Amino acid sequence: MRTTIQQVQQFKDKGEHFSVLTAYDYATAQIVDRAGIPLILVGDSLGNVVLGYESTIPVTMAEMLHHTKAVVRGTKNALVIADMPFMTYHITVEETLRNAARFIQEAGAQAVKLEGGVTVADKVRKLVDCGIPVMGHIGLTPQSVNQLSGYKVQGRSLEAANKLLADARALEAAGAFAVVLETMPSALSAFITSTISIPTIGIGAGAGCDGQVQVISDLLGLFTDFVPKHAGRYANLAEVITEAVSAYNNDVKIGAFPTAQQSFDMDDTLIDALRQ
Ligand code: KIV
Ligand code: NA
Repeated sequence: MRTTIQQVQQFKDKGEHFSVLTAYDYATAQIVDRAGIPLILVGDSLGNVVLGYESTIPVTMAEMLHHTKAVVRGTKNALVIADMPFMTYHITVEETLRNAARFIQEAGAQAVKLEGGVTVADKVRKLVDCGIPVMGHIGLTPQSVNQLSGYKVQGRSLEAANKLLADARALEAAGAFAVVLETMPSALSAFITSTISIPTIGIGAGAGCDGQVQVISDLLGLFTDFVPKHAGRYANLAEVITEAVSAYNNDVKIGAFPTAQQSFDMDDTLIDALRQ
């Protein structure tokens, strides 16, 4: 049985911290799911850490659907949340509903996530009314990197903090089942967490959130172009992979790979017959 949004609310109500991780492909999703991570986000961080884009802005519906399908196929227990790409939920409510529905109906996700607070609250309400669970995302919203003038800590002035609080409240009122708080002072995220009834999920927002979310490529040391300050580092897969592929490369060069173990036999008499 997959995690339900009701269970996510219960995590908060019982004071149980919970983790969220991104995944972008079938094999990784299987590992994350089997490890017991209750929520998996197919983030549009896909653009940065898998597709090599400089930001999340170029990520398309087609790319997100493709990867969401793979993650859904690889999971049995996690609630799968698909990130809605830039400009797929801004233009009209109708377009927003159609795009979100594709993640649920075509790709098999159980929820969608979108960036913004007060300004997207009407869209969130419509989605929820249609039966689509929505996760909000406020603070450092990477799809707005150009408007924000870079990837900076958000909510540091009273005015900015008040704005984020209003965004969180708007999402709660619109029926969002949870909200991501990205890159803001710990005291502010803790205050927001204690103020709203829905779970907050932090990334670069301190320990006072109800849950935490990480980009798996950061967590595993697989993406090395840029490592954000908020990244937990639990493995160094770039190093592990480099060692493995270098050993393979060397073994092929010196004739040590493949061995009999990776090879297939045939009756010698057949080869003798072939020679005739
Ligand atoms: O795209 C993503 O991975 C995200 C998380 C960092 C919350 O939006
Ligand atoms: Na994202």
